[in-house]
Amino acid sequence: MKALVFHGVGNVSLDEVDEPVIQHQTDAIIRITASSICGTDLHMVRGTMPGMKPGTILGHEAVGIVEKVGSEVKEFKEGDRVVVCSTIACGQCAYCEAEEFASCDESNPMGPEAGTAFFGGPALSGQFNGLQAEKARIPFADFTLVKLPDSISDDDALLLSDIFPTGFMGAEIADVQDEDIVAVFGCGPVGQMAIASAFLMGAEKVFAIDSLPDRLKMAEKQGAILVNYEKVDPVKFLKEQTGGYGPDSCIDAVGVDAQTPHKGPAKGNSLLGGLQHLIEQKMVAPWTVMFGDQWRQGDAPFQALCWCVEAVRKSGVVSIIGVYPQSSILFPIGMAMQKSLTVRAANCSHRKYIPSLIQLIKDDQFSPSQILTKHEDLKDVVKCYEQFDQRKPGWVKVELKPNQAA
Ligand SMILES: NC(=O)c1ccc[n+]([C@@H]2O[C@H](COP(=O)([O-])OP(=O)(O)OC[C@H]3O[C@@H](n4cnc5c(N)ncnc54)[C@H](O)[C@@H]3O)[C@@H](O)[C@H]2O)c1
Ligand SMILES: [Zn+2]
Ligand SMILES: [Zn+2]
Repeated sequence: MKALVFHGVGNVSLDEVDEPVIQHQTDAIIRITASSICGTDLHMVRGTMPGMKPGTILGHEAVGIVEKVGSEVKEFKEGDRVVVCSTIACGQCAYCEAEEFASCDESNPMGPEAGTAFFGGPALSGQFNGLQAEKARIPFADFTLVKLPDSISDDDALLLSDIFPTGFMGAEIADVQDEDIVAVFGCGPVGQMAIASAFLMGAEKVFAIDSLPDRLKMAEKQGAILVNYEKVDPVKFLKEQTGGYGPDSCIDAVGVDAQTPHKGPAKGNSLLGGLQHLIEQKMVAPWTVMFGDQWRQGDAPFQALCWCVEAVRKSGVVSIIGVYPQSSILFPIGMAMQKSLTVRAANCSHRKYIPSLIQLIKDDQFSPSQILTKHEDLKDVVKCYEQFDQRKPGWVKVELKPNQAA
């Protein structure tokens, strides 16, 4: 079958690989009908989420049809239409019982302290092959898959696989309440879902911060107030717009590939100077692409996170859903402490949110597929990665249809 394979930093290709087989009786094999590309995939190809094993199939967002199940799979049978939870959970351990699926003790073969188990990630996330392929093996299928009602389209379901639950969790751990003022840093797909979720939770105003016109425009369509960080100083602007206080909560939907402003009043105006950014880049990710326009590491890994801490009001909440690797050890703890902030960070426990978000889509409260801007063939996946990596206009969220490549 065809699958997108990681060969090294800045090096991926669509290869012919062996079809997956059942390895444990709790596994299922699915035929993928649609998958998508995520900002998390970019961290891995850019080297800012280090530790990828060459040969790993990338991708962790998909919908599909069950083809085969192991003898211990109780909830699914051949032919069921399913969405895959990006994170893999056993469903039985104490963490799973508490719906903390991203902290599952059993699903990561690298051990309970290795981190969240997910598809197509670094070795420490369990060495599971990913979903940008024609088929995939789904471990702990009873808990890693969710059945889809006919009324939910593949396009909406695809965004349930990872980013709608993640954005929703971002607003939930930001403790968004009725009439709150929320700032979402990053208007990529995850930021868009966080903006929608903040409104769903009753936020009165949502500020959306980015520098890319197409992504800001998408946020504006959702009713957000735009902040282009290359036109205004975002921290100053957010304070001015909130009577000097700052938003009740700030959501970091950028992560480790953050950029610093290259023009405008906030250029060189952050807590962090240029030299410090360089040191941080090397600290979080020693092996990255140094030349050219492709696969370049964000030039200021902690820029968005620092802005969140600076901008939020005293006693406010910073919600971190952008991904940071274990090597990220710098955080403005002094300012956070002196401002009495609540700081929450998490990998999403998709299994916890997907059933209620399916209901929300069924009730016509929101359709996440509105952010899918490209519908492409899996055979063009490398080109799609390149466009998404360079954040080319219009390449906000890419759906890949694997079966057209067969
Ligand atoms: N916690 C989870 O479970 C989880 C799940 C999915 C994705 N993620 C993470 O969410 C983050 C966003 O994912 P995505 O798919 O939207 O990625 P993306 O790369 O498409 O979007 C990131 C956006 O941030 C903007 N940006 C860069 N620097 C900025 C800054 N200083 N201030 C404001 N905006 C800035 C970029 O222009 C871009 O639009 C990634 O780190 C991804 O790994 C986390
Ligand atoms: Zn994702
Ligand atoms: Zn578990």
